Amino acid sequence: MRHPLARALARPLVSAAMTAVIPLTSTSSVSASPAPASVASASLIASDGVVVGGFPVDVSDSPWTVALSSRDRFGGTRAGQFCGGVAVGRRTVLTAAHCMGEKVLGTPPEQVRDLRVVAGRTDLLSDRGREIAVRDIWVNPAHDLASNSGDFAVLTLAETLPRQSVVEMAAAGDLAYAAGTDALVYGWGDISGSAEYANSLRAAHVRVLPDTLCAKAYPGSDDGKYVTASMLCAGQRKGGHDACQGDSGGPLIARGKLIGLVSWGSGCGRSGSPGVYTRISAVIRALERETAVRGGARASGGG
Ligand code: ARG
Repeated sequence: MRHPLARALARPLVSAAMTAVIPLTSTSSVSASPAPASVASASLIASDGVVVGGFPVDVSDSPWTVALSSRDRFGGTRAGQFCGGVAVGRRTVLTAAHCMGEKVLGTPPEQVRDLRVVAGRTDLLSDRGREIAVRDIWVNPAHDLASNSGDFAVLTLAETLPRQSVVEMAAAGDLAYAAGTDALVYGWGDISGSAEYANSLRAAHVRVLPDTLCAKAYPGSDDGKYVTASMLCAGQRKGGHDACQGDSGGPLIARGKLIGLVSWGSGCGRSGSPGVYTRISAVIRALERETAVRGGARASGGG
């Protein structure tokens, strides 16, 4: 039982009614900016830069990293990719709540008929790996649009992933959360901050940064507000390496465990504006609470 929580959660969450998704605030830095078809097709293969300042990786090195796609909403180039996600159970994928928001999807998520999780595909222009239908979407009802806190959603897959494609979530107190820890962020997002979306998966080296740094950088603005309990600060003090638009929902991995989901930031890779991630220990806590409630209520059936 390497991932008892995820497995235990999968059930109750399946039957959980989908909560209304409220669109995010209007700042572009907060929302995913998935490339519309026209932009995507124009995207270049840039020399540098996820993920800004990153390097190419093969998805087999990080098989829990998945792409979220809808060709219907985002066009067929790049397989309809618009956000990232991470497998924490064989049928359970975490992503950002805002990736399921109307501001990103243009419609409530249940109306996106071809929402897929693309697993095992490094290059979005290839047909490698699998495109898996999503059977259930659970958006954290406590996702706060003003601060961006609680930015996570749980997708239940219609098919099972291999065991090796599941990453362990770092529990509260894990050393992986300590400031200074090396971490890698993965995604198919913008590699320059000017809407150059990657066709092939990239990763960037970042470090867990002290909460005080993000608290100072993000005291509260249209972009959001850094909330230590539910967010994680990561990047490089001088900037350069960072996640960017289109990477949202994707994993931040340290010491072989999942510690964050790409959530928001001001610009990409700017010095003094680190990346802000959804803190996984807070996700675990929220899901445990949810499971307890569901277990007690045992309502909505279906599953
Ligand atoms: N909100 C963006 C997305 O939806 C992710 C932004 C992350 N920004 C950053 N500077 N780390 O894709």
